[in-house]
Amino acid sequence: MLTTRPSSPAITGKTTRDRRMAANALVERLHLRACSQAPGRQRWESRHLVGRTVLAKRLAMVIQSQDGIDDVKINERTGRIKITFEPGEDRDLEPFLRYSLFYLLFDVRGAVNPRTDDRRETTAQGASANDLLDLLKMFPPNKRDLTAAPLWSVANNLMNFLPELALVGIVNVVNGSTFNALSAIGLKSPRAQVLGLGVAAGAAFAAELATERKRRRAWRKVAQKSQHDIRTATYAHVQDLDMEFIDQRNSGELYNLIGENSSKVGKFLETGADDMFQRAVTAVIIVATLGAVSPLLALTTLAPLPIIAVGSRFVKDKTGPLYAQQQESESAFARFLTNNLGDLGIIKSFTAEDREAARMQKASAELNTDTDNAIQSSARYSDQMRLFISVAFAVAMVLGGSMVAGKKITPAMFTLILFFVPKLLVRMEGMGESYDQYQSAAHASKGILKTLRQKPTIVSGSEVLEPGTVKGALLLDRVTFGYKPDRLILRDFSLEIPARGSIALVGATGSGKSTVVKLLMRFYDPSSGRITLDGRNVRDLDLHSLRRSIGFVSQDVFLFDGSVYDNIAYGRPEASFDEVVQAAKAAEADGFIRELTDGYRAQVGERGRRLSGGQRQRISIARAFLKNPSVFIFDEATSAVDNETEMAIQRSIARVARDRTSILIAHRLSTIRHADRIIVMDDGRIAESGTHEELLRHNGLYSALWRVQTGETSARSGSGTAA
Ligand SMILES: Nc1ncnc2c1ncn2[C@@H]1O[C@H](COP(=O)(O)OP(=O)(O)O)[C@@H](O)[C@H]1O
Ligand SMILES: [Mg+2]
Repeated sequence: MLTTRPSSPAITGKTTRDRRMAANALVERLHLRACSQAPGRQRWESRHLVGRTVLAKRLAMVIQSQDGIDDVKINERTGRIKITFEPGEDRDLEPFLRYSLFYLLFDVRGAVNPRTDDRRETTAQGASANDLLDLLKMFPPNKRDLTAAPLWSVANNLMNFLPELALVGIVNVVNGSTFNALSAIGLKSPRAQVLGLGVAAGAAFAAELATERKRRRAWRKVAQKSQHDIRTATYAHVQDLDMEFIDQRNSGELYNLIGENSSKVGKFLETGADDMFQRAVTAVIIVATLGAVSPLLALTTLAPLPIIAVGSRFVKDKTGPLYAQQQESESAFARFLTNNLGDLGIIKSFTAEDREAARMQKASAELNTDTDNAIQSSARYSDQMRLFISVAFAVAMVLGGSMVAGKKITPAMFTLILFFVPKLLVRMEGMGESYDQYQSAAHASKGILKTLRQKPTIVSGSEVLEPGTVKGALLLDRVTFGYKPDRLILRDFSLEIPARGSIALVGATGSGKSTVVKLLMRFYDPSSGRITLDGRNVRDLDLHSLRRSIGFVSQDVFLFDGSVYDNIAYGRPEASFDEVVQAAKAAEADGFIRELTDGYRAQVGERGRRLSGGQRQRISIARAFLKNPSVFIFDEATSAVDNETEMAIQRSIARVARDRTSILIAHRLSTIRHADRIIVMDDGRIAESGTHEELLRHNGLYSALWRVQTGETSARSGSGTAA
């Protein structure tokens, strides 16, 4: 998208001075626009930042490291930069911004990772019970557990009332009544009856404890099954979704989606649903008892119900968005955290620890505030409800008391009311917490459902390729593609790669090289045009067999936390040890692997952290080689390593790619000069193509690049006496 067009002045200068001037001219040509400059605040915009998370992040760090800058925000979706100054520190930042951008765009090639984690549309609206129910319908708990759990809840609840009933019995006995049931078993004297009732109360307590354990266990089983099903299904679904979905999300967010959300639903099932159920059972028992004593009393206690019903509608509208907000900041926090933890090295290298710690503090505080707001709001609701209930009960007490006085009910009945009233109040006390769990679970369900309803657009074809029969002839035929419809990356792009041929793609960062590769592997589909492998449209091919026939090695090597052996064998888990070693040898990895303390059993650490970049790269080449693909793709596989390692990797690439189709993408032209054909890409188009010699003779973009890289300034006449 920028620079290194054939006319680019940056690369054609004859002397160092010329080149510096050319570079300056280039810096001037970078897109950077001042949007607004208020005192203490400046807004800029550069389209080079669009869609480039890492670049944006690094630029933000560089700007922030300047004295007098208070805060920097870069939106990689719009390319906007917002800089806040410390008081009295305003100054013109344009030259600094231009040079920083230039430096980051060109010198730190790996930094330009075109991944976006732009915020998706906000879901600042409430979730409903339907979301939760829909989700639970998809992942129903085990039927037996689901029947057992409420039954244990009821049993537990009943047991919970028995001690009180025994105590009421004691009051009755003390007041001169006798219990016929107790008399029948020989407990005739009041003393004996009191004792008998005491023992009964003790037994009821024990039974309550026992049923409580059963109840908890039953609900836990209900929760665990659904939670397990939800998280495994969501994970599997996310794995099958298009790269577009995955590219747009950060791993922290995905973790949140799969891990946190499913556990919120689980938590609700394990405790929230149980609590609600218990509360309902308690209310029914108490109201029924009161009803038996006096319908008027029961009505009085039921009086707050309509108010509660109306109130909860109102509250839902109010607290819903707060929970949505909370959910979002939780997601943002997870995104921030994983982003940073994955990049601690960069943070250290920019000595940005303090700043990042401060940002962390801010993000965490924001999350706290949002969580607090949501819980406060639901707590306020339950407080109000409790107030209504307490008032109703106070009325019921007065009513009950006057009934005793008027001899309409016995003192024992009144005692019963005295016991039951606080019981219901205590139960209501936990209402806010359950409501909170319910809201969290409903929002989590909404998020999960939204993901589950996403359907992959890249669907597998039906033609299965037999391993070993693929020749590897590739064709891109007038392909047009853009990640966003309004911003095309490739237009009418055609490229033919004969079977067993080798081609190289070169061109400026962002010119679309990796995009070509992603289309070949069908991470994305072009909007028009055709891509074929051995003459068959890749859309018709079985997706797995297509990808199995391509060995892909990129600059960002991803090693799994496990042994060296596991990582190589990942390419073909059924491979024998010998085959793994052969693959390692082909990738020149065998030597250093044997020098590791545990050899092939050595642990590579998270993302292969315990190995050097070159070692990781060679393991990834061995891994791809073991797959025995017909097509090899190396996307800047040597960009992140030193020259010596690059030579070694080049050798191993040459070895593994022999007799196969290979596509090499590299910045150092020396790496690719031997390719059968070199394609120079510029802004999504083929600017030049040919062999190394042909391109040098052609004296265009490639030859200019070549001279810059080899430092060759010999008089190739006419090649631009720029600037
Ligand atoms: N997942 C993506 N979403 C949106 N834009 C992207 C994505 N990946 C790459 N791009 C954009 O596509 C253009 C070409 O990128 P890419 O093919 O990676 O370039 P290269 O590999 O030549 O450096 C760039 O402008 C980049 O910002
Ligand atoms: Mg690339």
